[in-house]
Amino acid sequence: MAFLIERDDFPFEFVSQLAEKESWRKEIHRPVYYLHKWWAKRLGSVFRGILLGCVLDDTADLKSEFFEAHSFADVTVYDPFMGSGTTIGEAHKLGFTALGRDINPVAAESVRVSLGRMDKTSIEKAYTQLSDGVGEQVRDLYRSLDSDSRPCDVLYYFWVMQVPCVGCSNPVDLFSSRVFARNAYPKRKPLAHAVCPSCGDVLPVLYGQGEAICHSCGKTFNPMAGQVKGAKAHCQSCDKAFRVIDAVRVNDTPPDYRLYAKLILTQSGEKEYLPVSSIDLERYQECRSLLDNAIHEGRVTLPTLTLRDGFNTRQAMGYGFQRWRDFFNDRQLLGLGLLHRAISELEDEASRDVFLTLFSGVLEFNNMFASYKGEGTGAVRHMFAHHILKPERTPIEANIWGTPKSSGAFSGLYRSRLLRAMKYRECPKELSMGPRNEDSDSSPPFSGSVETDWPPIKSTPRSIYLSCGDSSVSELLDKSVDLIVTDPPFFDNVHYSELADFFYAWQELTLDNNSDPASTRSSREVQDSDREGFSEKLRAVFTDCHRVLKDEGLLVFTYHHSRDDGWKALAKAILGSGFIVINTHPVKSEMSVAMPKTQAKEPIQLDIIMVCRKSDSVTDYVKPSVELALKSAQDKLIRLEGVGLNLSLNDRRVVIYGNLLTAIESACDLDSMTKTAEQVSAA
Ligand SMILES: C[S@@+](CC[C@H](N)C(=O)[O-])C[C@H]1O[C@@H](n2cnc3c(N)ncnc32)[C@H](O)[C@@H]1O
Ligand SMILES: [Zn+2]
Ligand SMILES: [Zn+2]
Repeated sequence: MAFLIERDDFPFEFVSQLAEKESWRKEIHRPVYYLHKWWAKRLGSVFRGILLGCVLDDTADLKSEFFEAHSFADVTVYDPFMGSGTTIGEAHKLGFTALGRDINPVAAESVRVSLGRMDKTSIEKAYTQLSDGVGEQVRDLYRSLDSDSRPCDVLYYFWVMQVPCVGCSNPVDLFSSRVFARNAYPKRKPLAHAVCPSCGDVLPVLYGQGEAICHSCGKTFNPMAGQVKGAKAHCQSCDKAFRVIDAVRVNDTPPDYRLYAKLILTQSGEKEYLPVSSIDLERYQECRSLLDNAIHEGRVTLPTLTLRDGFNTRQAMGYGFQRWRDFFNDRQLLGLGLLHRAISELEDEASRDVFLTLFSGVLEFNNMFASYKGEGTGAVRHMFAHHILKPERTPIEANIWGTPKSSGAFSGLYRSRLLRAMKYRECPKELSMGPRNEDSDSSPPFSGSVETDWPPIKSTPRSIYLSCGDSSVSELLDKSVDLIVTDPPFFDNVHYSELADFFYAWQELTLDNNSDPASTRSSREVQDSDREGFSEKLRAVFTDCHRVLKDEGLLVFTYHHSRDDGWKALAKAILGSGFIVINTHPVKSEMSVAMPKTQAKEPIQLDIIMVCRKSDSVTDYVKPSVELALKSAQDKLIRLEGVGLNLSLNDRRVVIYGNLLTAIESACDLDSMTKTAEQVSAA
């Protein structure tokens, strides 16, 4: 029997339309996968569509089944690259037994917590306990005086990176513009704030204005100009121009930062931009000694892990960042250290783990790599906005506990991430395609129970089994799973573990095992800048998938790549592990934020669902000719355009390469087809 997903008429347009809708507010629509950061999360509706397509027969109507309740209690699905657990959660909602594994402990822990036990009463109680205790201490670190000398909360402190001039050694502020705060839509709301280069006062200006007169010192300056332009800086003391990196290289310690402004919340709830005062500078110095004392007295334990050279870490290391704790200033280390300690002392184990995961998510917004997006949007641009570790020249320090008007704060993420996730778990919903925008309830509540015995011994319906480790040696029993649905890393894309170490540096502080590794990096992680290396590691995981999958089972995964070598690497891994590609379906994916420049003009907005079977178990499948595979790719492109998708060259390319994989016997075949594929995509 063929399953719906094996057939050309699998309604990928319908899935794409849902995905498109979900992608606008994914953390609102499926908050259960957004408790913690992970990179390249997939859209839940796509995985619900895939899972249904893998069990419904070819006569089923996905468009109605999608919104029905299901219970595929006898089917075990396995995801060897589970990431943030999208497949596992969606499979659970549909009643499957779900097995998930990931090599990265940060991913594995976040899925365990997100899908595991959460007792609302205990969590709320723990939150109140934290808020009344450590919350007050942390909030106190962010207090100052407003322009009328009344006590106020500080929402954000503004810092600028300084480097010593290579000519005269005087510190040079790396401002590229004196405007440090503006609206996210400056054309509509041009009011901005600038810092005077002569006296340091803060004044309102209009965005784009070429000249401003400082109301304090009376000097005239261009608010849009700074002392640095791209890679070059200019010293005002000795007039020398120099490359920023040359100044940075002088030291092997992280650069210095200067505190220059703040945004405060007055007692009447108004926001005010102000220059820093001597009180602010004293308070910061005070935090430094408080931190020293807290460490000395054992009230705070800070991360000790160091950065290791790698594709993503190199840039930060070039700026002298050697330890992960160097990413934070001393007040952040104090606030985070106190909060971390208080959470790790919570009595209820499940609540403690939930809050440790929430805390870990908070780190992303509260470090010296975060920047200011401006007003009119979630004010803090977190450090991973571009999947890289780029030192920030004008970082923003947010109030860690937060005020009702804060972004990226612990109290804010408690509401926007944790409370939302809990609500979704109680009543999971599907996005509707109807005109009234009403979501429908179709799944029972999440069980809140996760098993970590591995391999699973008995498989009870709807149970979730999770493990952390290399999926090329999954330890699962031979032919024990019915279905594999996954999303492998894409060649040359995110270097998960290099980035995840930022979180792991804090997470490992609460692991009891002394032998824990000093990094989440592993030579077995499927990622490599070398095509052969990537392909070989992916093949090893697929080979294990072949072993654990029942003969009649499907292996289905999503993939995309803009270059032919990404597809060649994939073809080699699939065919080399004993699978063949039966069909492929394009679906709307998220735009990649970490797009290389070469791809920015032709962004990929599609993922290709690759539907595979074990080659030695397929009896009645007839491989299409290359002409037929290309024709089928064109039909798919026409169908996508039919639902209003505007396709780029790279979109056409991924559909064509994906489809060519149905027509090849060996990866070398793809070499001879590359030229044709490029011509067809360009046409
Ligand atoms: C593209 S991500 C999966 C994202 C996921 N679909 C989601 O929605 O979050 C790929 C995952 O594969 C994991 N991974 C890489 N090599 C692995 C290996 N050898 N064994 C298990 N997991 C691996 C990475 O840690 C990463 O989390
Ligand atoms: Zn100089
Ligand atoms: Zn001035």
